[in-house]
Amino acid sequence: MGDEPGGAADDSAVARARALLDAARRVVVLTGAGVSAESGVPTFRGQGGLWRSHRPEELATPEAFARDPELVWSWYDWRRHTVGQARPNPGHEALARLEARLGDGFLLATQNVDRLHQQAGSRRVRELHGSIWVLRCTGCEREREDRATPLPSLPPRCAACGALERPGVVWFGESLPADALGEALRAAATCDALVVAGTSAVVYPAAGVAVAALRAGRPVIEVNLDPTDLSGQVTVSLRGKTGELLPRLVGA
Ligand code: APR
Repeated sequence: MGDEPGGAADDSAVARARALLDAARRVVVLTGAGVSAESGVPTFRGQGGLWRSHRPEELATPEAFARDPELVWSWYDWRRHTVGQARPNPGHEALARLEARLGDGFLLATQNVDRLHQQAGSRRVRELHGSIWVLRCTGCEREREDRATPLPSLPPRCAACGALERPGVVWFGESLPADALGEALRAAATCDALVVAGTSAVVYPAAGVAVAALRAGRPVIEVNLDPTDLSGQVTVSLRGKTGELLPRLVGA
């Protein structure tokens, strides 16, 4: 069933993937940091990845935040600055075109917190790991979107109750938004095709969206720079950059 593991992005593989997509009326796409890499946003595990120069448990956990909110906020403020300078790339734009073509038959589940999909015009987006632009009060839970970079003061405090605000992202050990994850899993199990793009597929339950499609016997297309645990299980595995391959899959 699967394409040769690590199948290169040769024309025949792209043509097979494109045919699957063209025949599909209900498509789910799962994206990871690789989709934003060509926009200049660092990934986590690849070359130059964030987890090569930082330890996740030091920065992306509730315990790290409780221990040193200033340190955690200084890292997120830097990430917000970097993401703030990024613009959507042709991979984001191709997914927005696919949504325009499919309408309600399309769903984009992203692990990314940069909102570049929305900037490219995607609307049917489920943010499985939250958004770096959202701040949530640790006291009254009030949420607000603030795109200031840098933030005027760190750590930010809630204007309503004075408690510390935290980044509105999902940290290691925390639950994902149940409605977003549930909808993505159900859509993946009943779609005509699922595209998994730019993710190492090592973080669950998000990566489980692709596994749900595989378990349901749905065609799965992978677009990724490096091989992943999914590469040998998917219908077609395209090795390359999402900024180049997604436009070829979706067309003009
Ligand atoms: N085109 C396609 N794939 C790319 C590109 C590119 N231009 N650049 C990098 N990649 C691939 C890498 O080969 C890698 O497999 O994207 C993948 C990125 O993997 P990670 O850095 O692990 O990012 P991601 O899979 O999104 O991480 C999942 O882990 O740290 C947590 O919450 C964080 O959402 C994140 C989650």
